[in-house]
Amino acid sequence: MTDLAVTVNGLKFKNPFVIGSGPPGTNANVINKAFAEGWGGVVAKTISLEADKVTNVAPRYARMRAEGSKEVFGWENIELISDRPFETWLDEFKAIKDAHPEGILIASIMEEYRRDAWIEIVERCQNVGVDAFELNFSCPHGLPERKMGMAMGENPDIVAEVSGWAMEAATIPVWAKMTPNVTHIVDPGRAALAAGCHGLAAINTILSVMGVDLKTLRPMPTVEGYAVPGGYSCKAVRPIALRMVMELARMQTEDFPETTISGIGGIETGEDAAQFILLGAHTVQVCTGVMIHGYGMVKDMCEQLAAFMDQHEFASIDDFRGASLPYFSTHADLVRRQAEAKAAAKARREGMVEKDTEWEGDKFVEQSDRLVSND
Ligand SMILES: Cc1cc2nc3c(=O)[nH]c(=O)nc-3n(C[C@H](O)[C@H](O)[C@H](O)COP(=O)(O)O)c2cc1C
Repeated sequence: MTDLAVTVNGLKFKNPFVIGSGPPGTNANVINKAFAEGWGGVVAKTISLEADKVTNVAPRYARMRAEGSKEVFGWENIELISDRPFETWLDEFKAIKDAHPEGILIASIMEEYRRDAWIEIVERCQNVGVDAFELNFSCPHGLPERKMGMAMGENPDIVAEVSGWAMEAATIPVWAKMTPNVTHIVDPGRAALAAGCHGLAAINTILSVMGVDLKTLRPMPTVEGYAVPGGYSCKAVRPIALRMVMELARMQTEDFPETTISGIGGIETGEDAAQFILLGAHTVQVCTGVMIHGYGMVKDMCEQLAAFMDQHEFASIDDFRGASLPYFSTHADLVRRQAEAKAAAKARREGMVEKDTEWEGDKFVEQSDRLVSND
């Protein structure tokens, strides 16, 4: 019997599908809806102590569609973290846990570069009963202007220091969410785990410019005629997310085997999720997919993941996590393997009669043997 439940850092998720931080987890109404529809966990929209410093603009999204089709495969946003008061969030966290005690509720937190602020936000959130934290070291737009989000996440020393502050106060699991807008994601990932974080979440959005309006010559999404680069998500980023999760998982399984990974980026189906798990993810998060397909998609995703597991006779998520990691190698190794395979094929071909003129009386039985496929 296929079991989708997974225990991660001591927390039991009824399935590995988690709402990624963003609009689908932006208040109690939508978080309750997510749990009612069957999501294993929810990472709430990122919060900070001082919501009044957050002012969003509209429009703040831009979509890329497949040519000649309605299918959305790329999504840019210039949305900031939550603009709702911290105290409201605390009340809602408590109410959500009361209503859905079995749902794993993860607070995504972000603060300025001040130890006391990080300690305060951790203590006050865990006091109202959230199950875990995600440290947002990764928002690529708006917040870096205040030295927050990606401005921290791209610097492994700061990631280590701030993770250390959070770990001083945390009594529940802590994941660090990584930005993909770096050359070597393993460096900040390692820094977070070395500082004591229990897990990594990857990836946040990729810095992008959706396009330029050829009539107005203004970059998009355009606000009062101007724009800023935003964060790219949805299906188009999945190959990049898979690569980064793979790199983090190779480091994490080798050096921090007790820690975990939450895979994020362009996941919309159970098959997408299976690929992240095969590359080392313990849970998977979906943000943009929910904005396109709605909360009910989790049911299809569970069915699709279970069907994949049945096909391979995997009884649990633990049975196949990381199973594809050993097949990454170096280019030189691929060249060597290909040369060996070609030589072996040549050797097999040699001695096989191809034309009837090649049959010889003295070697007749041997030549016949070589042409047999099923011995
Ligand atoms: C509109 C929007 C808002 C987001 N807000 C946040 C946020 O507040 N905190 C955060 O950590 N990530 C945020 N993200 C990033 C997502 O959680 C996720 O890392 C990223 O979009 C890639 O996953 P996806 O392709 O499933 O959306 C946001 C993404 C979108 C599209």
